[in-house]
Amino acid sequence: MTTTLITADQLFRKVDHVVPAVEWATMADDVNAIMRLKAERNAVILAHNYMRPEIFHGISDIVGDSLALAREATTVEADVIVLAGVHFMAETAKLLNPSKTVLIPDLRSGCSLAESITAEDVRELRRQHPGVPVVTYVNTSAAVKAESDICCTSGNAVSVIESLGVPEVIMIPDQYLARNIAAQTGVDMIIWPGACEVHEQFTAAEVRALRDEYPGVTVLAHPECPPEVVAEADFAGSTAQMSDFVASRRASMVALVTECSMSANLAGAHPEVEFIGMCRLCPHMQRITLKGIRTALETGRHEISVDPAIADRARLAVERMLAV
Ligand code: 13P
Ligand code: SF4
Repeated sequence: MTTTLITADQLFRKVDHVVPAVEWATMADDVNAIMRLKAERNAVILAHNYMRPEIFHGISDIVGDSLALAREATTVEADVIVLAGVHFMAETAKLLNPSKTVLIPDLRSGCSLAESITAEDVRELRRQHPGVPVVTYVNTSAAVKAESDICCTSGNAVSVIESLGVPEVIMIPDQYLARNIAAQTGVDMIIWPGACEVHEQFTAAEVRALRDEYPGVTVLAHPECPPEVVAEADFAGSTAQMSDFVASRRASMVALVTECSMSANLAGAHPEVEFIGMCRLCPHMQRITLKGIRTALETGRHEISVDPAIADRARLAVERMLAV
């Protein structure tokens, strides 16, 4: 049986309003190699909403927020998953579909939240607060997930917390997400002082200045932003929820208080909306490039493995979240 490969020339129509033709021409060799290698290796590319437009609109098979990528990872039938995102996302995919080869193109693509807490920190929190359930943001290592009762993402944190039906939880490691969710649920939170190095930089004064400069702008913020920033926004939600908001509400001018690539990707999908730049780049997400994805497929690097001693417990915490 012969398979017809989609070429960079054919893919250009998917990226033509976000990637200039001259730039795409410089990427064509890598794009063609990736499309060939995907077919040869029976691989799929799962890409987070923060990936650069050429990855997000160009060569990916599935795109989404952390929750969608976790859900999609459970159903992948291909032999190889290339996770175009950060390390914890690749680890989650491996937990949920352990028989697959999961590759991350750059091992340095970490996350300040994941790095802020260890498994021993969680055990110590449990010793200090016996009987209080531990709700862990997916932006953590598998070792930390293994010490947790249940995971959550920014897209389902409210429903996960409410599903527990308790007055108090230990919510780790993002202090801002915890405070934002506490305000929505009324549940008391024992928090950990972790923060996203990208979202913690936004300030309420910046949002107010933006509104003065662009009257009528609709401001969408990620709940990893400090609560005073979220309070200035019209809507707060996960990257997929912000994306859905733009798709359904027909706002003509939007500012996304989140990682920059998200605005570029949404601008590609919604040319009728004006996106106002109020964004910062995540250095970890930006490590993922076309060249890195090509090398991952060519060499099988870097393969994700999870210590069997923690994998089952970590998987349980993620599966409990998916069941909510
Ligand atoms: P989402 O789950 O909203 O995609 O967020 C992941 C993330 O790392 C945001 O900084
Ligand atoms: Fe982590 Fe923040 Fe980067 Fe998201 S944007 S991966 S939370 S450092």
